[in-house]
Amino acid sequence: MERHTTVISQPELDRQAAICREIASYWKAEGRTPLAFVDTYGCQQNEADSERIRGMLRACGYRMSDTEEGADCIVINTCAIREHAETRVYGNVGALVHTKNRHPAQKIFLCGCMMGQPAVVEKIKHSYHHVDGVFNPHQLWRFPELLQSVLTRRKRIFAVDDSAGNIAEGIPVVRASKLKAWVSIMYGCNNFCSYCIVPYVRGRERSRRPEEIIEEVKGLIAAGYKDITVLGQNVNSYGKDLDCGVDFADLMASLAELPGDFWLRFMTSHPKDASCKLFDTIASHNKICNQFHLPFQSGNDRVLKTMNRHYNRAQYLELVDYGRKVMPNLVLTSDVIVGFPGETEEEFEDTISLIEQVRYDALFTFIFSPRGGTPAAKMEDPTPKEEKNRRFDKLCNVQNRISLEIHQAYVGKTMRVLVDGRDGENLTARTEGGRLVRLPGDDSLIGQFIDAKITGCTTWSLVGEAVL
Ligand code: SAH
Ligand code: SF4
Ligand code: F3S
Repeated sequence: MERHTTVISQPELDRQAAICREIASYWKAEGRTPLAFVDTYGCQQNEADSERIRGMLRACGYRMSDTEEGADCIVINTCAIREHAETRVYGNVGALVHTKNRHPAQKIFLCGCMMGQPAVVEKIKHSYHHVDGVFNPHQLWRFPELLQSVLTRRKRIFAVDDSAGNIAEGIPVVRASKLKAWVSIMYGCNNFCSYCIVPYVRGRERSRRPEEIIEEVKGLIAAGYKDITVLGQNVNSYGKDLDCGVDFADLMASLAELPGDFWLRFMTSHPKDASCKLFDTIASHNKICNQFHLPFQSGNDRVLKTMNRHYNRAQYLELVDYGRKVMPNLVLTSDVIVGFPGETEEEFEDTISLIEQVRYDALFTFIFSPRGGTPAAKMEDPTPKEEKNRRFDKLCNVQNRISLEIHQAYVGKTMRVLVDGRDGENLTARTEGGRLVRLPGDDSLIGQFIDAKITGCTTWSLVGEAVL
C-alpha cells in the first residue's frame, strides 16, 4: 500500500526545538523559572501526548507544577469519548477564569480530542475568552511555536486542522513514571465504529517505523524502565500502511527479544484484526505479558453489526478460546457499552451471557453516550435513561461477582510482581496480568520484580506478602 502519511520533516522539528531555546532564554532574561501545569483527561494516548507536551514545556524552560494556581502556562489535554468527559472539561476550564484573575499573565491552552471537533472550538472561541490557545492532536508538534505566538503577540490562537494527521518523531518527553512507560506505535483509527468519535478527531491510522519504535524501547530499557506498554487505537493494524513486511506480532517479537529485564504490554486490540499469530507470539515470549484487552462492546450480533464492529459473537468467542488454549493463564479484560440505540432487553441479556461465558478478570463498562457527527447519534434510541441505568447496574454486579471469584482463586498462589509504588501503609505492585497487589514492605523494593504470595483479595485488588 502506498504511504500517504505526512511525516513532519527534520527542519520543521529543528525549528520547533530552536523556538524552545528562544522561549527558554526569554525566561532566563526575565530572571525566573516559569511554572507549567498540564492536566490530562481520557486514555493512555492522551497521557502519552501530555508527556510530550511536558517535554516541550521543559525545553522551553518551564518547571512542572502540580496545581493550576500560579502557573504561567496551563495546558488542558481533553477527551471527547463521552459527554461526561466533555462536561468535566468545560467545568474545569470555566473555573480557570478565577485562577487567571489572580495571575493575569497566565497563558491557558486547550488541546486533545475535544479540539478535533469544530463546534467545540467555536464554543471556546466565543464563550471562553480566558483561553489563549487551542490546538488539535495533529498540531501537537507545533506547540512551541504556538506558545511563542501567544507569549509575544498577545493574540489568541486557534491551530486546528482537519487533515488525516501526521507523525512527528523525536519530540522531547518528560515521563510521569521512572518504571512504566507508554510508547505510541501508531496514531489514529480507520474503524469508524458507529458510536465513536476517535476517528474524527485523531485522523487516519498511521504507523511509526519499526526502527524508531525499537530505538525508543531500547532507550527505555537502558534507562531502567520495567513495564512498557505500546499504544494504538487498534494495534493489530500496525504496519498495514508501511509496506515493510512487519506486522504487530513481528514488532512485539522484536521488542521482546531486546536484552533486559522488563515486561511488555499493549493496547488496544480490535477483535476483527486480532490474529492467532499474535496469541502465539505472546505465548512464546516471556517478556510479553499474558494479558489481553479485547473490547467486545456487545454480546449480540445485531447490535455488533449496527456498531460497525465487523465480527460476531461466535468469532469473538473463538478468538478467546484460541487465546486461552495457547495461554491457560491469560488475563482477559474488555470494554462494553450498555444501552446502545435500540438495544432490547434480550440483546442486553446476550451481553450478560457473554460475560458469564468468557469470565473477564475486569471490565470497563460504559453507558452509550451520543457523540455529534457519529452515525449512532442519529439512531432511534427509545430506551429510557432509567432502564439503561438498571442494565448498567446489573452488568456491573455480574462482573463484580466474577472478578471477586477470579481474585479468590489467586489466594495461596505465589506470583512474580513488579513493585511500583506506595499507597499509605502498603506497597503497590502489579502482576503480569496487570492486577493490583497491595503488600507490606520497604520502599527499597520499589522498582523490583519480586515473588509475592497472595493472601487475600477484594473485587478490585489482591493482598499479598513478599517472598524474599
Ligand atoms: N480503540 C479502542 C477504544 C477506544 S475508546 C478500541 O477500539 O478498543 C474506549 C472505549 O470507550 C471503547 O472501547 C468503548 O467501549 C467506549 N466508547 C467509545 N465511544 C463511546 C460512546 N459514544 N459511548 C459510550 N462508550 C463509548
Ligand atoms: Fe473508536 Fe472503534 Fe476506533 Fe476503537 S476501533 S477508537 S472504538 S472507532
Ligand atoms: Fe478520549 Fe481521545 Fe482517548 S477521545 S479516550 S482521549 S483517543
